[in-house]
Amino acid sequence: MRLAARMERIGTETAFEAAARARALEATGRDVIHLEIGEPDFDTPANIREAAKRALDEGWTHYPPAPGLPQLREAIAADASARKRFPVDPERVIVTPGAKPIMFFALLVLADAGDEVIYPDPGFPIYESMTRYVGATAVPLPIRQENGFRLDPDELASLVTPRTRLVVFNSPANPTGGVLSRDDLERIADVARERDLIVLADEIYSRIVYEGEHVSIASLPGMAERTIVLDGFSKTYAMTGWRLGYGIVPEPLVAPFTRLIINSVSGTSAHSQVAAVEALTGPQDEVDAMVAEFRARRDLIVRGLNAIPGFRCLQPSGAFYVFPDVSGTGLSGARLADRLLQQAGVSVLAGTAFGQVGRDHLRISYANSQANIATALERIRALAERLTPDARASEAAAPPVSAR
Ligand SMILES: Cc1ncc(COP(=O)(O)O)c(C=O)c1O
Repeated sequence: MRLAARMERIGTETAFEAAARARALEATGRDVIHLEIGEPDFDTPANIREAAKRALDEGWTHYPPAPGLPQLREAIAADASARKRFPVDPERVIVTPGAKPIMFFALLVLADAGDEVIYPDPGFPIYESMTRYVGATAVPLPIRQENGFRLDPDELASLVTPRTRLVVFNSPANPTGGVLSRDDLERIADVARERDLIVLADEIYSRIVYEGEHVSIASLPGMAERTIVLDGFSKTYAMTGWRLGYGIVPEPLVAPFTRLIINSVSGTSAHSQVAAVEALTGPQDEVDAMVAEFRARRDLIVRGLNAIPGFRCLQPSGAFYVFPDVSGTGLSGARLADRLLQQAGVSVLAGTAFGQVGRDHLRISYANSQANIATALERIRALAERLTPDARASEAAAPPVSAR
């Protein structure tokens, strides 16, 4: 069948493919530890599940208003005003099935063929995919380990041209766990204001921060009018399967985004939206407990990886990923990821799943139990010790096993 030419430009998210590969291996009887998937391993808190069940019984089974139920838009506006520290008008909140459509809509609404969109490399692969799909030019902004996985605002400024329309960034970030400082955000905001750019601020991990506080670029002077804030329920409340997200958009984008909803999905599941009100207004202690557990896992995995020959891993301040440089093993991230799955039963992603800058990296999700992470670390260590010249040299120099 002949497909539209634009389908040649669309990319994908290889995490889903990697998970399928790992499951296929498991089906042959192999034991695999999953560190590839970017979703909390916790269940959705019980109060939210109960609210959804009640909503179904109360008849929330009809089409909702396209941009979202008024009570949810109000709850999001109140929560975001408090946490993101800028006054959010409920009319500017657009509820979507998962947060991903906000990326798609932003690009469909703002980027024409020939326009340029600056996106982080490494970064969430959908930014580049959707930019190319709509016919715009995707301009990668390198994010480097040497810079603590924070984007360099001067480098950002150097990439802006008269065709630049949109700048996309993500803090805390997938895949690096990097968190931008207030100073970084102020400098990005300066560039956006000076060069009249729109910003897509992906804040999906804004509640998963271990050190310091999350700062929304929309809270900086003059930025709410040029920022699309993307956030949602998937990560914070362990609700990936519910498909619930939202955007907070400048006033001129409310009608176009709503029209895209009407043209695509009509709206977001009504009973899920009622449950989302409970998520925001009910007790938050389970969120705090999840974040505390993620922090303990982060400490475990960072310590463990840095003790493995050939690995250099920064301690990320947010999200639930690490992005170690594995060049010391002598293998690229892609080759090492492949060997880890086939020979060690550990499923991780190659850094290149997030852009070319990730060539020497792995993306490891620590949304798995501490026991599984500890076993995975042992398996990774055993494989790495068989690989690296340094490790071989130190093995040779070490006393015989019986004397240790
Ligand atoms: C950076 C980033 N943004 C957005 C999303 C999409 O979230 P949702 O599941 O709500 O569509 C993800 C999910 O992995 C993500 O990592």
